[in-house]
Amino acid sequence: MKRSSRKITVVGAGAVGSTLAMRIAEKGLADVVLIDILKNIAQAKALDILDASTVIGHEQDIIGTNDYSLIKGSDIFVITAGLPRKPGMTREELISKNAAIVKDVAEKVKPNAPDAIVILVTNPLDTMTYFARKITGFKRERVLGMAGILDSSRFAQLAAAELKVPRSSIKAFMLGSHGDTMVPVLSLTTVSGKPIKEMLKPDVLEKIIMRSRDRGAEIVSLLGTGSAYYSPSASVMPMIEAILNDTKETLVVSACLDGEYGLKDLAIGIPCKIGKNGIEKIEEIPLTEDEKKSFLASAQVIKNTIELL
Ligand SMILES: NC(=O)c1ccc[n+]([C@@H]2O[C@H](COP(=O)([O-])OP(=O)(O)OC[C@H]3O[C@@H](n4cnc5c(N)ncnc54)[C@H](O)[C@@H]3O)[C@@H](O)[C@H]2O)c1
Repeated sequence: MKRSSRKITVVGAGAVGSTLAMRIAEKGLADVVLIDILKNIAQAKALDILDASTVIGHEQDIIGTNDYSLIKGSDIFVITAGLPRKPGMTREELISKNAAIVKDVAEKVKPNAPDAIVILVTNPLDTMTYFARKITGFKRERVLGMAGILDSSRFAQLAAAELKVPRSSIKAFMLGSHGDTMVPVLSLTTVSGKPIKEMLKPDVLEKIIMRSRDRGAEIVSLLGTGSAYYSPSASVMPMIEAILNDTKETLVVSACLDGEYGLKDLAIGIPCKIGKNGIEKIEEIPLTEDEKKSFLASAQVIKNTIELL
């Protein structure tokens, strides 16, 4: 595999961060600097990922460290540092502990990697995206959060299984907060181009929506300790590829709004064009009256969480 000279920092060498570091290196997208607050964990995981490089056949470097001076020149800075949910917990309940962690990490970006685009993964996702933008002082284009890609993928996977069609034939849009009020935009959800509402009965669709909405909690409860990490780390990858390859692809990401959808002073999941500058365009898509109502209710939940900062 050809070596890429790009560089990505991943902070948090836990389940999501280390799996993401591995995915980035193994796809030959960039060298990775993996950072954690704990003394040796990032170093150990970086060595372990590196030891697979000859087997996988990639040439990327992976450095594990506690030293932020090594992140100089990073194209992208991903924040996965923070506590995951415990069984029975909502994502919003992580706010006080994770806000302190995200503040600590986000303060390091500007002095060490002033040109990086920042991607948030830490929960509560939308609130942490908004908060990281405040802390970095970066333009809103350069701070975005990952959740909608994961939520949409969960829905698409479950819908494909119900319809017995290839997963790739489903185009799903989960907008709003990454939480219990996420908004499935069924009016734009299609199966091989056909509206999904014409293919599944309302009660079946409702079941799929509830299962995809509760999928994170289902995994937390089965794991006992920790939360999902294979699908979350995979869901950061399209964002990274869109930025590095300047694809201008439309992806659902958490973005800071400034009047779009009649909202400001929050970050929320919406479709955006992603390219080398980060969020290059916020798409204002048509929503039905019911979808609009759910979207605004979801925005209110985020606003309430932001109040707790
Ligand atoms: N956005 C999403 O869709 C999504 C999906 C899954 C997980 N998450 C969130 O991602 C976060 C990480 O999840 P995980 O499963 O990897 O957790 P984890 O506990 O496995 O890893 C978190 C890591 O962060 C490190 N850390 C804590 N404080 C730090 C600091 N100040 N600086 C640097 N590192 C620090 C910890 O030492 C730990 O290694 C959680 O908040 C979780 O809720 C979000």
